[in-house]
Amino acid sequence: ADLGALNSFRLPARAARLLRLRSLDRLDALIATPGWAAIPRLVLGGGSNLVFTGDFAGTVLKVEIDGRRLVDATAEAWIVEAGAGESWHDFVCWTLERGWPGLENLALIPGTVGAAPIQNIGAYGLELAERFDSLDAVDLESGARRVFTLRDCAFGYRDSVFKRAPGRWLVSAVRFRLPRRWQPVTRYAELARELEARGLADPSAREISEAVSAIRCRKLPDPAVLGNAGSFFKNPLVEAAQCARLLAAHPTMPHYVQADGREKLAAGWLIEQSGWKGRDLGPVGCFERQALVLVNRGGATGADVVRIARAIVADVEARFGVRLEPEPALL
Ligand code: EPU
Repeated sequence: ADLGALNSFRLPARAARLLRLRSLDRLDALIATPGWAAIPRLVLGGGSNLVFTGDFAGTVLKVEIDGRRLVDATAEAWIVEAGAGESWHDFVCWTLERGWPGLENLALIPGTVGAAPIQNIGAYGLELAERFDSLDAVDLESGARRVFTLRDCAFGYRDSVFKRAPGRWLVSAVRFRLPRRWQPVTRYAELARELEARGLADPSAREISEAVSAIRCRKLPDPAVLGNAGSFFKNPLVEAAQCARLLAAHPTMPHYVQADGREKLAAGWLIEQSGWKGRDLGPVGCFERQALVLVNRGGATGADVVRIARAIVADVEARFGVRLEPEPALL
C-alpha cells in the first residue's frame, strides 16, 4: 500500500499492509492471528507528525474511528469525547460552537484526536494535558482494553507513555474536561500581541481560536500546499548555568524558565542564527517564515529530510553546544 498520500510531508513510502479501522471490531481477530506479535506495527492518524525514511515492512493501522459526544456535564466541567479518527481542528471548532471552551489555543493543529495525546500537543500557552480527562486504548500485544487517566499518560513536553512505547497502544477515543469557570490563556507573548492588535482586552474562546488560527496561517506552511510535519525539532531544555553562559554571548536569545529551574530555548531562533532559515539542501527547505519547520519543495525522500536535519543539528551544535532532537517520529 502507498503511504505517500497518508503523510503530510508527502514522503514516498510503502507498507506491506494497510488496514483502515472504522471500529475496533476487526482488531481482535487481527491480534489473534498467528504470528501477529512478530509483525511490526504502526498506528497512523493524520500522518502529520512522522517522517518515512523508507518502506514499512509491517502492518499500518489507519485509525478512522469517528464520533463526538458530550459524556457528562458536572458542576465544574463538560466532559466531551471524540473518536480517535476525528480531525483535531474540526473537533476543537465543534466544542467552541457548542459553547464549551478550553481547547481554543490548540486550534488549527493538523492531525487527529487520537494522535493528539501521543505527543501531548501544545501551542500558544496551552498543552493538551491541561484539558485532558482520560482515553480508551487497546494493547496491541494482548488485545486488552484499557482506560488511561491523566496520571497514567505521564505527559511531558511533546511526550507521553505512548510515545515512549511505539506500536504498543492504539488510542480509540479521547475525553476532555472543559471547565465551566473558564479563564482565557493569553500569556503567550505573540498571542497577547495579536489580541491587542484586534482590540480584544477580554477575548472569548472563539476570538482566541481566531487569533491563534491567524498567527498559525501567517507563520506555518499549509501541508496541503507544501509538505511538512510541523516543528521538526523540539525546543531544547538546558540547565540554567548553560543558558546563562549562552546569554552572556547572545543577550537577545529567547529563553523560558521551566518549573524545574531548567530553561527552554527556542530551536527556531538557534537555527535561524546558524544561517539556515530559508535555505534549502536538495529538495528540502528550512521554511522562510519559521525556521523550526522543514518543508518538501517537491519530490523529497526521507533520506533528503534526514540529510538537511543532520546538517542543521551539526551547525547548531557547533555554534551553541546544544543538540537538537527531532520532534516527529522517524520511521
Ligand atoms: N524564532 C526565531 N526564528 C524562527 C522561529 C522562531 O527567532 O525562525 C523565535 C521567535 O521569535 C520566538 C521563539 O523563537 O522568540 C519562539 O517561536 P514561536 O513562538 O514561533 O514558537 P516555537 O517555539 O518555534 C513552538 C511549538 C509549535 C507551536 C508554537 C506556538 C515546539 C517544537 N513547537 O514553536 O508547535 O505552534 O510554539 O506555541 O514546541 C509543532 O509542534 O509542530 C508546532 C508547530
